[in-house]
Amino acid sequence: MNSFLKWAGGKKWLIPKIKNQIPKFKTYYEPFLGSGTLFFELEPKSALLADSNFELINCYRQVRNNCLLVIKILKRLKNDKNVYYRVREKFNCEKDLVKKSAYFIYLNKMCWNGLYRVNSRGEFNVPIGKNVIQRNKIFDTDQLLKASQVLKNAELKCCDFEETVKHATRRSDFIYLDPPYVTTNLTNGFIKYNSVLFSSTDELRLSALAHKLACRGVKIMLSNAAHPLIMRQYKGMFYKTIIDRASLIAGDPTKRSRFAELLVSTFPMTFNDGKAASLKITAPPNFKKYKSDFNPKCKI
Ligand SMILES: C[S@@+](CC[C@H](N)C(=O)[O-])C[C@H]1O[C@@H](n2cnc3c(N)ncnc32)[C@H](O)[C@@H]1O
Repeated sequence: MNSFLKWAGGKKWLIPKIKNQIPKFKTYYEPFLGSGTLFFELEPKSALLADSNFELINCYRQVRNNCLLVIKILKRLKNDKNVYYRVREKFNCEKDLVKKSAYFIYLNKMCWNGLYRVNSRGEFNVPIGKNVIQRNKIFDTDQLLKASQVLKNAELKCCDFEETVKHATRRSDFIYLDPPYVTTNLTNGFIKYNSVLFSSTDELRLSALAHKLACRGVKIMLSNAAHPLIMRQYKGMFYKTIIDRASLIAGDPTKRSRFAELLVSTFPMTFNDGKAASLKITAPPNFKKYKSDFNPKCKI
C-alpha cells in the first residue's frame, strides 16, 4: 500500500526499482521512518519503526491505536485557508495526542510540499501549499484504516537511529536506512528536517554502525546522495549503485534538477530500466578484513 503521508526525501520514486530486490527477512527495521514508503510497500509481519520526530511517531501510534477517532476529527476539518492556519495554531499548543495526530495529517496534506519544519520555539510554521484548496479530498478513510492494520505489526519508537537497531543482530533482520541527505553544497552541509541537524558526525556514526551490523550478517540497504563524502564512507564491504533521477524537493518546478542517488547494500542489486548505472560493485570480498576491524560480538 502507499503511505498516507507526504515527506521530504520520501522514497515513492524508488519503490518500483527496488521492491523485487529486497531479500527475505523476518524482522524489518526502519530507523529513519519519515513517511515509511518502503514499510507500507512491504507490509512486514514484524517491524521496528522509529524516527527522531516525536509528532510523526505519535501520528503513526494514534493511527494504529485510535484510527476511528483520528478519522472522526479529520472529517471535521475543511479544505480552507483560514481553517489551515487555525489548525496550525491549535496543533502547536494541543496536548491531546489523538487530536494532535489528526492535525498532523491535515497539515501534512495541506502544507507546502508536505514539509515538516519548526521555528526556534519548536512550532510548526510551514505555510499552506499551492493549489491544495482545489483538491476535493484531504485524506482517504480506507487508506488510513488499512495503514492502521499494517501498523499493528510494528513497534514504534521516537529515538535516535543507533537505539533503533541495538537489537538487530540476526541474519534474518533487514534494516533500511534512509537518513537526511547530505546536500551538494559542501560548505553549508546537510538538510534540516527537525530542529536538530543531521551532521557530518551523524553520517560517520551511521557508516560505522552500518559496518558493524553488516559484520554481524544483518541485511542492510541505505540510500543517500551520491556525494563524494558519503561514497568514501562506504568503501570495501558494500555493493554500491548509483541512480540518476530528477530532484523533487525544490518548490519551483523550473528549478528542479538531476540528482545522483546512491544505494548501498549488503546484497547485489540490478536495474533493468536503463536509467540506473551500477557503480563499482565491491561486496563482501573485503569482508574478512572488516570483520577483524570490528568485533561482531561486541554490543553496539
Ligand atoms: C529522508 S527522511 C526518511 C524518508 C522516508 N524513507 C520516506 O520514504 O518518507 C529522514 C528522516 O530521518 C529523521 N531523522 C533525522 N535525524 C535522525 C536521527 N538522528 N535518528 C532518527 N531519525 C532521524 C527525520 O526526522 C526524517 O523523518
